[in-house]
Amino acid sequence: MVSRVIPVETFDLVIFGGTGDLARRKILPGMFRRFLSGQMPQGSRIIGAARSEMDSAAFRAMTADAIAAFGGKESHDKKGLKDFLQCIDYIAIDAKGDAGWAELGAMVRQDVVQSFYFSVAPAFFGDLAERLHRNKIANADSRIVVEKPFGRDLESARALNATLAAHFDERQIYRIDHYLGKETVQNLMAVRFGNMLFEPIWNNHYVDHIQITVAETVSVEGRGAYYDKSGAMRDMVQNHLMQLLCLIAMEPPSQFGADEVRDEKLKVIRALQPVEPQHIVRGQYDADALGPSYREDAENPRSLTESFVAMKCHIANWRWAGVPFYLRTGKRMKARASEISVVFKDLGHTIFEGDEARHRNILSIRLQPNEGIDLQVTIKEPGPGGMRLVDVPLDMTFADALGPDAGDVPDAYERLIMDVIRGNQTLFMRGDEVEAAWAWTDPLIQGWEEREDVPKHYEAGSTGPEDALMLMHRDGRKWREIKA
Ligand code: BG6
Repeated sequence: MVSRVIPVETFDLVIFGGTGDLARRKILPGMFRRFLSGQMPQGSRIIGAARSEMDSAAFRAMTADAIAAFGGKESHDKKGLKDFLQCIDYIAIDAKGDAGWAELGAMVRQDVVQSFYFSVAPAFFGDLAERLHRNKIANADSRIVVEKPFGRDLESARALNATLAAHFDERQIYRIDHYLGKETVQNLMAVRFGNMLFEPIWNNHYVDHIQITVAETVSVEGRGAYYDKSGAMRDMVQNHLMQLLCLIAMEPPSQFGADEVRDEKLKVIRALQPVEPQHIVRGQYDADALGPSYREDAENPRSLTESFVAMKCHIANWRWAGVPFYLRTGKRMKARASEISVVFKDLGHTIFEGDEARHRNILSIRLQPNEGIDLQVTIKEPGPGGMRLVDVPLDMTFADALGPDAGDVPDAYERLIMDVIRGNQTLFMRGDEVEAAWAWTDPLIQGWEEREDVPKHYEAGSTGPEDALMLMHRDGRKWREIKA
């Protein structure tokens, strides 16, 4: 297999919130793995910046601990770790004051790629952006990286966009949705636009419906305070599921370029129809032997926030008119399983006498775990005794098809950070895209808030509330099984 890896220039990566959870779990271990695979050119530096008073030696020790805990099998590479830690520094900084900025300015170089990762609450974005400029640290080529939640509605997202736009051009802003960094999500585009086979039938003439499931087994434990103000709609649908839907539904871009791809995604979001209340099911998990109920986890006995949501949406354009898109996501479900399935229409006519089964081709793209793609096709059951038809999967689990190392794909964050350093915005959300996503989501949320909609209960470890099954049953369809 020949792989073409785009080279990276020498860089300074400053992580604001460098001692935080995301830095410890994802950013630092991810950068370590990129370092080991030779993608951190000599002379590149990572600078942690946070409020805590500590020196670079203490931050390096913290980084080593984070890598031991979250670095995966590479964390055993002692020599690699020692070399990596030499590229790391720390500055104690006050985002709202003056402390630390002069030191940071002295450390960040102007002749290398500069990336500033805002791994902090959005309330600090404006202060950081302003101080980076006031202290003449950022320049016209600097990149800034921001995380979700990017606002909690259209108004707050607009305000955040305006705050960033006061100091940085859109081409410098990288809004992360880590789902876009997942290997299979990118493969979705390869499957659609790298094969002759699928694109001609990717429309309402051939597709019966599309379903997207992102099922999690984890609870909201530990994040209850944030989650209870957010819920599955804001936490997962407005961003991750919306991005998946866009990639499935968008028109072919003229090239795989940042604006070409994002223009097409934006058109999908703008064509999304409002969802009728009867086509939305919200749920909250109950307690079970393994853990407390949602309301206990959220420490809010009267919470009306959803830990599960399922809905039926429509995209009003020529390609998709009449094709329902069913989305569902929830916490504390039966298994961790995320999958997009394109379910093709039934055959118009069968020539096989006695075969009354409903044979359908289904293309499933498995995001996690066990990334891969499978296509359900109908074949003859082997053996004598007539034409008995069976449906079998043409399974392409990446690890099987491309060798064991193919299962060892870089974490989404690693890939996305390297794209920031390369200056490639294709897998990042543009400001107008985020605003359009909120413009679609806001009325749905307002609708249930006004109705004081009470989420349905569901058993922890299940597939969600009964009503979510009914959402499909009523249409003569069913959800794909959530398999462990
Ligand atoms: C985050 C959400 O964006 O995505 C979490 O805030 C969720 O609630 C997580 O658990 C899921 O990500 P992944 O990569 O584990 O599917």
